Amino acid sequence: MSEVSSLPWAATPAVGHAIGLYAKWTPALDAKIEAALQRLRDASIEHGDGLVQSSSLGVEDMVVTDLISRTGLPVHISTLDTGKLHAETLGLLPQIKARYGFDVEVFTPVADAVIQFVRKEGEDAMYKSIELRKACCGLRKMEPLGRMLKGRSAWITGLRREQSGARGDVAFDEDDGNGRRKISPIADWTWAEVWAYVEKYAVPYNPLHDQFMPSIGCAPCTRAIAVGEDFRAGRWWWEDSTKECGLHAKS
Ligand code: ADX
Ligand code: SF4
Repeated sequence: MSEVSSLPWAATPAVGHAIGLYAKWTPALDAKIEAALQRLRDASIEHGDGLVQSSSLGVEDMVVTDLISRTGLPVHISTLDTGKLHAETLGLLPQIKARYGFDVEVFTPVADAVIQFVRKEGEDAMYKSIELRKACCGLRKMEPLGRMLKGRSAWITGLRREQSGARGDVAFDEDDGNGRRKISPIADWTWAEVWAYVEKYAVPYNPLHDQFMPSIGCAPCTRAIAVGEDFRAGRWWWEDSTKECGLHAKS
């Protein structure tokens, strides 16, 4: 029994155990794991202290953190706490410390900017227009991301090609458009492979994944998906948009 599942906010019974639903070891997975480990080693050699894992604490990022731990390399790990994350998401921080010994650096928005925005536009501004939603993402994610990446030459993500059409061409190592390298070591993994890895190596994960939330962002902007819906259908579900917040938007 994990530390997190004994806490009151995790008391809701899981309705769809993600490992049982999705995990499937494939013949290709052993080689994909080796290749991902090698990409992390190469990135660490090339970038040294300039390398950071940007973790949303979603399941892909948890797999990447597990891979990083297996390399034994001193890769820095950071997350953006927007102030709107689920308690279950933040509950992974002590689990990462307990399991891997890693202190994840947490970047938060500028408090004054958030207070002024909420006072002017309301707590529910994101639902009022795409512009206001993007402004909220700007304050709560993009500005802190800038601080997270300051002085870094490369960041590691858990992006996968399968996640959406817009991500179909994610490279293992690409220019992020801002002069840095973006390393996505599990870009070619399938959802079934991610969960097979989680099962085999008992990787800690967000219990919300057991409640039909494959892609988890901020609480007001994430909902469970129904059978047959797209992987990212639960993100900004009310919008007719590309469902990107700016972290990975292509200009
Ligand atoms: S998002 O752009 O829609 O929010 P998504 O949740 O799919 O992104 O995550 C894709 C990758 O973006 C993650 O693997 C991670 O590298 C990075 N990322 C997303 N959200 C965060 C966050 N809150 N903190 C740090 N990195 C994040
Ligand atoms: Fe704001 Fe939603 Fe963007 Fe989070 S995902 S920063 S709550 S608009």
